[in-house]
Amino acid sequence: MNGPTKPIILGIEGTAWNLSAAIVDTFDVIAEVTSTYVPPTGGIHPREASQHHADHIKSVISAVLANAENNGIAPGDINAIAFSQGPGLGPCLRTAATAARALSLSLDIPLIGVNHCVAHIEVGRWKTPSQDPVVLYVSGANSQVLAYRAGRYRVFGETLDIGIGNALDKFARGAGLQHPGGPKIEELANNASSYVPLPYVVKGMDFSFSGLSTAASAALETSSIEDVCFSFQETAFAMLVEVTERAVAHTGKNEILLAGGVGANMRLREMLEIMCNERGISFYVPERRFMGDNGSMIAYLGLLMFEQQTLLPLDESHVRPNYRPDDVVVTWRGH
Ligand code: ATP
Ligand code: FE2
Repeated sequence: MNGPTKPIILGIEGTAWNLSAAIVDTFDVIAEVTSTYVPPTGGIHPREASQHHADHIKSVISAVLANAENNGIAPGDINAIAFSQGPGLGPCLRTAATAARALSLSLDIPLIGVNHCVAHIEVGRWKTPSQDPVVLYVSGANSQVLAYRAGRYRVFGETLDIGIGNALDKFARGAGLQHPGGPKIEELANNASSYVPLPYVVKGMDFSFSGLSTAASAALETSSIEDVCFSFQETAFAMLVEVTERAVAHTGKNEILLAGGVGANMRLREMLEIMCNERGISFYVPERRFMGDNGSMIAYLGLLMFEQQTLLPLDESHVRPNYRPDDVVVTWRGH
């Protein structure tokens, strides 16, 4: 095997509960170290998560540099520092951004501000054969259907309120399940015996999960938790698949790429796969480690941006908690 090739980029992800740093080259991940904030009870408290990041950022960066060193990469070999500029929780973003600025200054290399949603897409295009997909990005805070057109990743549909992951987690918390709720809901759904009707809300190309989550909690009074988990999944995933299919029909693209932590769900994958088979299009899912939030995706999009010299001056490196993917001018795609 050949050694790492230039450029080499260090990326820092810290939008929510995962703090992760990675070093990549064009071909692969050279090193990645992650520290996950686990809330003692309930969901994510932004200030506690950012405190976790502040407490661990030094050891995470030191560890990723040490791992890279074991693979023959010294800090002086790194060409730029990329970080998640948004969207995400303000206090968490600020901690990662501060570390990124400090590294950029101390190593005297450029800073690159990465959009977290676009990084999910690009890591999928990197680590699967996908080239020009309709993307279903489903995580805790985000739920969007996107596709590339005329220099930007356009949002074709999105949640009108909370992300699907947060909707699942909120319901799970109310049902006394441990955080994160998604995997436990999937497990319980496998033992269901019947479907309980729940609100199916698609408005134009957008969808909503808040009412569904509340209705599912109420349904627990009359139905078993297995049946409610199953029905929650069937309803929510059907909404997502419907909008994704319409985006495919509208754009004429012939690939779907799944991104985000909720993409781990086997039932969601199965429903998307059925739709893709019916339409004769390809379905791509990256390896699990590249689906949830990870430093490698930030480093990799940073690499694509570095190659185009899409750099971020220090005085413009403020965090962007509401940074939308369609705000990003895509400089690294030729068509
Ligand atoms: P983002 O900052 O992009 O919103 P995130 O912090 O929510 O990301 P991810 O790792 O992308 O992090 O996604 C976490 C979400 O994925 C949680 O809401 C969790 O419940 C959900 N999840 C994980 N595994 C499954 C599964 N098997 N089925 C359904 N949901 C799942
Ligand atoms: Fe994410």
